[in-house]
Formats: sequence, structure tokens, C-alpha cells
Amino acid sequence: MRTNTSPAPATVLVLDDEPSLRTLLGFIVQRVGAIPIEAPDAATARQLATKHTFACALLDKNMPGESGLEFLKWLRVTQPGCNAIVVTAYGNMDSAVEALRLGAFDFLLKPFEVDALEHRIKLALEQWQMRQERERMQAMLVQADRLASLGVLAAGVVHEVNTPLAYILSNLDWLDEELPSLGKALERHGRREGPAAELGSFAERLKAVESTLRDIREGAERVRHIARDVKAFARDSDDESVLVDPREVLDAALKMALVHIRYRARVVRDYQDVPLVLANEARLAQVFLNLVVNAAQAIPEDGKDHEIRVRLWTGPNGEACAEVTDTGTGIAPEHMAHLFEPFFTTKPAGEGTGLGLFICKSIVDSFEGNLSVESCPGKGTTFRLELPPHVRAARAPEQLSAVAS
Ligand SMILES: Nc1ncnc2c1ncn2[C@@H]1O[C@H](COP(=O)(O)OP(=O)(O)O)[C@@H](O)[C@H]1O
Ligand SMILES: [Mg+2]
Repeated sequence: MRTNTSPAPATVLVLDDEPSLRTLLGFIVQRVGAIPIEAPDAATARQLATKHTFACALLDKNMPGESGLEFLKWLRVTQPGCNAIVVTAYGNMDSAVEALRLGAFDFLLKPFEVDALEHRIKLALEQWQMRQERERMQAMLVQADRLASLGVLAAGVVHEVNTPLAYILSNLDWLDEELPSLGKALERHGRREGPAAELGSFAERLKAVESTLRDIREGAERVRHIARDVKAFARDSDDESVLVDPREVLDAALKMALVHIRYRARVVRDYQDVPLVLANEARLAQVFLNLVVNAAQAIPEDGKDHEIRVRLWTGPNGEACAEVTDTGTGIAPEHMAHLFEPFFTTKPAGEGTGLGLFICKSIVDSFEGNLSVESCPGKGTTFRLELPPHVRAARAPEQLSAVAS
């Protein structure tokens, strides 16, 4: 297993049809501490690219067959993280510009100085390493926020499960006493020892037992629903996207946040037709949960009639839109620009990590959606989420038939 403290050396593709130049380039790559992987032509390079992830690629522009620029186009798609340096002949400035336009990291004119090339490779590798590090940090932050959300979730689950559980247990206690007592009364009746009036009460008592069993079942059903809702959050953290109904995910988030909301605000749901979206359910639930908990935390416990309004509707371009609006403190104008930065928080330690909105934004970006905010200090805040719809409409069969025809 690789550890993060000693990352493997970066690999650099060296694509050049001239053997002597390849050797020289390979030598320079080694000098900067990276591993050169050499290819005499684009076809070989493509094959190598299936086995290696390149941090950097040195591409000769002029080669028989596929040119370095053609290969660059392909590389940008298959390995967008790779920083390419195009080596082109002196006096061929146009192709250098073209290389940059195609997404090359840098270019170098032949004949080149070894030091100059070494310096450029170093820059390309440094930038690659920084990007790797940033991606690793972001993955860690997502995980940290997931744990924080799980804390919120656990509090919600305990609260939600406790009520039906208390109800089930007290009903079972009652049955525990009632059934033996009823049994004894029936026995007495069988032996004709009990008072005659007792007979009439049996039917009543059995009805009470029946209705208690129904209550128990109802309580157990509630626990089962809670377990189903929790699954929306606890689903494996892999990035599998499926078709999800934003209504169900938002409802699950509201239930989980209820313990935070209950004594501060009432929840008003305004759900209109909204398309299904292609998303990872647990991730989308994390977004809604963060927004709803933020809304609850922004509401002061001042005894006023506060509201958290959640809206769902279909946007003008068919997108799924969601809004969480609170009547809380609002956001100071000087804070607006920082909301989505990691670790920006105005909450006391222990209450806020400053990761919630940063994570929401990264998740929404990964769904190719948009997250925006409007706030009026002293009045409240609205967070709006827009997600591209999946082609299949959730609740609009007429659209489906239009597509079919
Ligand atoms: N609904 C809201 N109303 C007022 N301020 C908000 C709201 N949502 C977020 N904020 C502000 O944005 C900051 C960052 O939020 P977030 O990233 O979720 O981190 P945290 O909640 O841990 O502080 C909060 O500390 C708060 O100042
Ligand atoms: Mg938060």
C-alpha cells in the first residue's frame, strides 16, 4: 500500500521520433527526479497511456504520422491532468500558439537549452503535484463533512426512533399484564368460577388487545420508515449516480434535521412538479441536510414565529430547482464572498466547521449544477440549488409521450 508521506515519483511521457533526442529528454526527466517513459510515435504513446498516468508529457510537434499536436488533443481528453510541453522547431511560433490553445502547459523552441527545459519540466511537475494535493485535501474534507453530517444524522435518528420505541414498549408492558390476566379470567370462566358479568367484558378486553397490537405495529412501521430514510444518507460513499426524486431526498433531510428545527421554526413545504435528477443520493442528501441545518442554526430562539420554507419546482429550462429559505439572522454583506470557502464559519467552535457550504458547492459542481445565495440581514436567507434534469421527467407523462412521438 502506498502512503501519502512518500508519493511515488511522477512519470513523464517522452514522445519523440529521434532516438538521440529521446535519450536526452529522458536524461533531463531523470535529473528532476521523475521517471521517463519513452515512445517513438503517437501510436506507442497511446498504448503506454493506457498503463501509465502521466504527470507531464514532452511532445515533439513534428513526427512522421500523427503529429504531436494531434496527440495532444487526444491526451487532453484521456489524461486532462497531464501537463504537456510541446517541443517545436524554432521559427514555428504559430504551432506553439496552437499548442497553448489546445491546452498545452508550455512550449519550447528547438534548439533548446537543457537548463531551460529542466526548469519547465520542474514547473509542470510542481503544478501537477499541487493539483494532486488539492484533490487529496478535497476528498478528505468531503469525508470530514460526511462525519459531521453523520453526527447530525445520529442525533436525528435517536430522537426520531425514541418516540415510537417508547410507545411500543409501554404498549408491550400493558399487553404483558393484560394477556395473563385475561387468560386467568377465561380459565375461571371455563371452570364457571367467575362472576357472570365477567363474560361481557371479554369482548371489550380482546378489542383493546387488538387495538394495542395495531398501535405497536404502527410504531414499528415508523421505525422502519426512519431506517429507510437513514439509508439515503448512509449509502456507500462511492460515486454511483442514480435517478433520484429530489422530493424524497429533501424529505429525508428534513426528517433528519427535525431535532434541530423543531423548537425554532416551522417547516413549510412547497413542492411543485420537479424532474428526477441523476445524482448520488447520499451526496444530494448531504447537500440538503447542510442547507437545512444551516437554516435552523441561523434562527434565533427568540420565541417569534419563524419559518423554514423549502421549495421544489421545475426551472425554465427543465432543470430541478430547490430553495431553502429561513427567517433567520441573514448574512452580513462582507461575509457573502466567503461563504463557500473551506473553514469559513461565524459559529462558535464545536458548532461550526465552516465546511458545510464548501462541500455543498463541490458536490453540486460534481452534479454540474449551481448553488447560489441571497440574503437580507435581519430578515433571512435563501439558498437555491439548480440541477440539470434527467431526460426522463418525474411527474410529467405528457413530456414523455412528446419525446416518444
Ligand atoms: N442560512 C444561513 N443564514 C445565515 N448564515 C448562514 C446560513 N448558512 C450559512 N451561513 C453562514 O455561512 C457560514 C458557513 O456555513 P457552513 O459552510 O455550513 O459552515 P458552518 O455551518 O459549519 O459554520 C456560517 O458560519 C454562517 O455564517
Ligand atoms: Mg453548516
